[in-house]
Amino acid sequence: MRRPIAAGNWKMNGLKKHKDEILDIDNASRKANCDVILCVPSTIISEISKITKNIFMGGQNCHTEKNGAFTGDISAEMLKDAGASHVIVGHSERRVNYGETNNNIRTKTQIALENDLKAIVCIGETLSEREDGTTLDVIKKQLIESLPTEIIGENIIVAYEPIWAIGTGLTPTIHQITEVHDFIRVELVQSFGNDTGQSINILYGGSMNAKNVKEISAILNVDGGLVGGASLKADSFVPIINALGKS
Ligand code: PGA
Repeated sequence: MRRPIAAGNWKMNGLKKHKDEILDIDNASRKANCDVILCVPSTIISEISKITKNIFMGGQNCHTEKNGAFTGDISAEMLKDAGASHVIVGHSERRVNYGETNNNIRTKTQIALENDLKAIVCIGETLSEREDGTTLDVIKKQLIESLPTEIIGENIIVAYEPIWAIGTGLTPTIHQITEVHDFIRVELVQSFGNDTGQSINILYGGSMNAKNVKEISAILNVDGGLVGGASLKADSFVPIINALGKS
């Protein structure tokens, strides 16, 4: 049985002074029937992880290497050291802005796992791929190439985030989300066997909000959400956490 996940992605937002907002989210998560993960900027993970009790802390990216001469980068080991338990890898903003490839993302996932972090591996098609009818081909390639060949299901979370739905207020239809999530489940089972394939949470991400969460989370293979803009405030994130906990 997969426990639902409500993951917030704060992107390049979040200062020490926002800790009250995070504490409100933390308090509201005490009774939630889902795991809540907040992926905040790495600069505040250490401080926030010390004061929260009910939520997991996540990073938003890690380097492919363990350590070394990589000015400005952050390693999986550093995130773990700061208090993170999770890390997002392969977010489309990094794939697009920094040219991250599936191969990079597989290495990042591997090093995250080696450092005892659970990896939230993001995949998703562009609008033109959706319009060309190649969505499932793109998803399959990203999924297979971004995941290591040997995994423990509980340590991997897949996030399906159509790029055209991120930060745009647009969301795919329920039919479109169902089709992709079912497809991902079948691919995971085929690649890793039934037990592992069934144990992996598949999150939906892209303009998830308090209004659409109920319908989206009712879909069989939607096991939670990866939420950007709406996770920044307790007022908008807590209703999403509660709805995901009920799914
Ligand atoms: P959004 O972002 O909820 O603001 O669309 C989601 C994400 O990028 O993970």
